[in-house]
Amino acid sequence: MAVKSVTCVAPVNIAVIKYWGKTDEKLIIPLNDSLSGTLHTDHMCAKTTVAISSKFSKDRMWLNGTEESLDNPRLLACISEVKDRARSAGKLTEEELQWNVHICSENNFPTAAGLASSAAGYACLVYALAMLYKIDGDVSVIARRGSGSACRSIYGGFVQWIAGTNPNGTDSIAQQIVPASHWPEMRVLILVVSDSRKKTSSTSGMQRSCENSELLKHRVAKCVPERMSEITKAILKKDFETFAKITMQDSNQFHAVCLDTYPPCVYMNDVSHGIANLIHTINKFAGRTVAAYTYDAGPNACLYLLEKDVPGVLAAVNHVFHTDTKKEEYYRGLSVDLVDVPEQL
Ligand code: DP6
Repeated sequence: MAVKSVTCVAPVNIAVIKYWGKTDEKLIIPLNDSLSGTLHTDHMCAKTTVAISSKFSKDRMWLNGTEESLDNPRLLACISEVKDRARSAGKLTEEELQWNVHICSENNFPTAAGLASSAAGYACLVYALAMLYKIDGDVSVIARRGSGSACRSIYGGFVQWIAGTNPNGTDSIAQQIVPASHWPEMRVLILVVSDSRKKTSSTSGMQRSCENSELLKHRVAKCVPERMSEITKAILKKDFETFAKITMQDSNQFHAVCLDTYPPCVYMNDVSHGIANLIHTINKFAGRTVAAYTYDAGPNACLYLLEKDVPGVLAAVNHVFHTDTKKEEYYRGLSVDLVDVPEQL
């Protein structure tokens, strides 16, 4: 039987200027521009195989080995946008476009850990579908329909997501600022504080912030545009000091917005704050900026740092949190190491 299939792998991305809030829930158009580093690693990836065949009796999907229902509107939006683009590209016959699709996706990191699993998952799915249906051009605009932050995982290196001005979202796309090779010394350490499911999802947390956080309005109008331009310059110049300061300030402001939300969204815990304090202490005693922390909608810390400082920072983390992580392997680009930190100090 004729089956056409494609398998892709996509990594997670870690935002340094956070996306928080939408102007359109259905089209997933963000309130503000955002910027992230796409991790260059085998440790934190989604892997997806998509297949079409005249013999498939219905669309089906498996996530980490378990069959899931396909009635998720975000998933359906991604599939139908790919098919629309495929129809205009005209590289598949109308008959092939009618065939049912099977999707098989797996993550090699805990789905619930708040570690951007949906970003990698949707980026991977959309990229695989785009290859299968032979569509050209930017597909970040389609990945965005799955999960906003997924659009940034379509590209490697440092990537910006431009909010766009078009109400139909056609200009709300991700663009690479520089490839990972531009700053090959850059590293990311992920300190896994907890892998339990977050209490408030990003989707509902940001909805609530939009409803009632005054600080979010100030952030979007005044802070993010300036930070986007400053951090982009810092990345182009490889100015770690400025990059790190803006990264930490933006993470802190994002969590301040979460606390300014009523009822508040509390994502960081005591260990998360302990790690932030440790980074400030290391930076102070080194007399320079050695590392930057950033936290998404969860307690896990993501540290951006340069390769030469990885052993020292790991040693400090191991000492303070009584862990025993050794750095055995280096990757080029934004490599990542997972460090398990006990949830209790
Ligand atoms: C805190 O992309 O998960 O990680 O678009 O509703 O699916 P939806 O939200 P999602 O939000 C990510 C928020 C964040 C910041 C970021 O990655 O920029």
